[in-house]
Amino acid sequence: MPTTPIPVSTTIADLRLRVRTWRSEGRRIGLVPTMGALHAGHTSLVRIAQETCDRVVTSIFVNPTQFAPSEDFSTYPRTFEDDVAQLARADCHLVWAPTAQEMYPEGFATHVAPEGAARGLESDFRPHFFGGVATVCTKLFQQVTPDIAVFGEKDFQQLAVIRQVVHDLDMPLAIVGAPTVRETDGLAMSSRNRYLSAEERRTAPAMHEVVTDVAARVQSGEPIDTACAEAARRLADAGFHKIDYIAVRDARTLGPFDRGRGPGRVLAAAWLGKTRLIDNVPIES
Ligand code: PAJ
Repeated sequence: MPTTPIPVSTTIADLRLRVRTWRSEGRRIGLVPTMGALHAGHTSLVRIAQETCDRVVTSIFVNPTQFAPSEDFSTYPRTFEDDVAQLARADCHLVWAPTAQEMYPEGFATHVAPEGAARGLESDFRPHFFGGVATVCTKLFQQVTPDIAVFGEKDFQQLAVIRQVVHDLDMPLAIVGAPTVRETDGLAMSSRNRYLSAEERRTAPAMHEVVTDVAARVQSGEPIDTACAEAARRLADAGFHKIDYIAVRDARTLGPFDRGRGPGRVLAAAWLGKTRLIDNVPIES
């Protein structure tokens, strides 16, 4: 059956008009922020938003402020037509696709600078990253005024940072975390997976195997340092040439993990050729 096309808003004025109409009808609104190049991980967030919302908005915006000059902003995959088709099939109600000019007009000079959960891990390697993410998400929340916004656990630290920003700045929405969608061999789906060569793609699932192994070892009492060192060795042997971090943290604060004091999380980031992969899994307690 052909899918009904969905509207695409490209200006804040048009977006606000549509949201105002929904509000006057008493609709509950969910937002799924993305940078496009959509895959089944993204559409799973749309479906989760649909569980509690009458209307779902997906934003597609490759946000320049979260990329360092050395990073892949200009080459980041842009597949807009296919993205809109996927969102139509997923019964999303509106695509919010602002231009860079609409998001950051001439003279833009305000920045949200998260600390706390934003310290360490990703920030040690991408110091500009969470400031850019927090700023654009704050703007997306102001633009769409959703009741909820859904974020993937795939980017576990990002989810923690967004929860913190929303809490600290008294933003009137709920943040919902969604489980990581994986390929059948365990590789976490990611827009950047399309950068992998055929050989790298065969190596990539080692990331998930290794973090899962660290979780099992730590759960069974092995010291964290030993488990992480062994994991780094395994990743290097598999063909990852630079390990940014493999860490075990408290799942709620991302501070040090204390056995028996709540859930933990194993988080890792490493390079396979020109592609940086991240993954994380829970440690139950
Ligand atoms: P992007 O990488 O496009 O991811 C958009 C959302 O999809 C994020 O919440 C991310 O965690 C989630 N996601 C990605 N892969 C997933 C997977 N395999 N399973 C489940 N969810 C997955 O993250 C960003 O964009 C940006 O930083 C953004 C928040 C949009 C701000 O620019």
